[in-house]
Amino acid sequence: MTILVTGGAGFIGSHLTERLLQLGHTVICLDNLDDYYDPGLKQQHIQAFTGSPAYHFIKGDIRRQELVADILSGHQCDTVIHLAARAGVRPSVFAPALYVDVNVNGTLSVLEAMRQTGVRRLILASSSSVYGNTPGIPFREDQTGEQPVSPYASSKYAAELLAHAYHSLYHFDISCLRLFTVYGPRQRPEMAISQFVHGLLTQTPIRVFGDGSVVRNYTYIDDTVTGFLQALTHLQGFQRLNIGGAEAISLQQLISLLEQLTGQTTRIQHFPLQPGDVLYTAADLTLAQRRIGYHPAIPLREGLQRFISWHKKKR
Ligand SMILES: NC(=O)c1ccc[n+]([C@@H]2O[C@H](COP(=O)([O-])OP(=O)(O)OC[C@H]3O[C@@H](n4cnc5c(N)ncnc54)[C@H](O)[C@@H]3O)[C@@H](O)[C@H]2O)c1
Repeated sequence: MTILVTGGAGFIGSHLTERLLQLGHTVICLDNLDDYYDPGLKQQHIQAFTGSPAYHFIKGDIRRQELVADILSGHQCDTVIHLAARAGVRPSVFAPALYVDVNVNGTLSVLEAMRQTGVRRLILASSSSVYGNTPGIPFREDQTGEQPVSPYASSKYAAELLAHAYHSLYHFDISCLRLFTVYGPRQRPEMAISQFVHGLLTQTPIRVFGDGSVVRNYTYIDDTVTGFLQALTHLQGFQRLNIGGAEAISLQQLISLLEQLTGQTTRIQHFPLQPGDVLYTAADLTLAQRRIGYHPAIPLREGLQRFISWHKKKR
C-alpha cells in the first residue's frame, strides 16, 4: 500500500512509519515539524528512513488542502493515517484557537483533499481524552455522552464527528483510534513518564500536579503501533476503537515503580491539578479485541524498563 502518514515525524508517527516500511508499504510523510517541542528531535526521528526508496518526506502543513490533494494524487496514495495534531491537554487551555485550527480545520482539510482525489480509507488518531470525566469506567466506545474537558479533547472529538460525516456522505472507511497515554522511546518530552524518568536519572525535582491519585491507562508504543496495523487490515465502515494499554495505575504508583526500576529517588514538588486534566482514564478493550484482534502485549513494568534503558542510552 501507499500510505500518507500525517504527523509522521512525531513520536507515534515515526514508530508507525518504521513498522510500515518493514512490512513493505510505501510511506509518504507530511509533517510541518511544528514547534510544540524541539523540531530537531523530529528530524532525528526520521533520519533512519531518509534515503529509503519507499519513504518520502514532505515538510508542509495539513491545513493546505491543495498540498494534501497534490500529495495524494501525485503519489497515488490509497490510505491516509492522520496523526498530525497539536497534542497536549494543558497548553490547549491557553491556545484554544490554535488547537481548533490545527486539529479541526486541519482534519477537515485532509478529509476534503481525500474527497477531491477519491482516496477513501482513513485511520484517525483520536484520544481517550474525548471521554473527559465521564462516569462509566472503564470507558466504552458505545457509551454515549462523551464529556471533553479541554479544548484539546473537544478538538479531537470534533475531528471524529467530521470523520463520521465523510463516512456517511462519501462512504469513506474510517477507524478513529482512541489512544490512551502512549509511552516509549521518543515519547514527547513534556509527557509525565519522560519528565519523571528524566528527573530521577538527573536527580532534578519531579513536578506532580494533584495529589498523585490521578489514574492513567498507559500504552507502550509497540502496542499502539500494532493497533494501527490491525486497524489497517480491518479498515471497513466507521468505527471508534479504544487502543489502550495493559494496566491503569495512579501517578503515585507510577512514581514508586519508576523509583524501583531506576534505583533512584528525587524530590517531588506538588502543584494543584491543572485545568483540563481528567481524573482517570481506563480503557475497555473488548470492542477493539473483537473487531481487529487488538490486545496489548507489553506489561507496564517491562515497557517502563525499555523506556528507561533507551533514556539512559540517549543521554
Ligand atoms: N502520545 C499520546 O499519548 C497520545 C494520546 C492520545 C492521542 N494522541 C494523538 O496521536 C497523534 C500523535 O501524537 P504524538 O504524541 O506522536 O505527538 P507529536 O507531537 O510527537 O506528533 C505530532 C506531529 O504532527 C506534526 N504537526 C503538527 N501540526 C501539524 C500541521 N499543521 N501540519 C503538519 N504536521 C503537523 C508535528 O510536527 C508532529 O511531528 C496526535 O494526533 C495526538 O493527538 C497521542
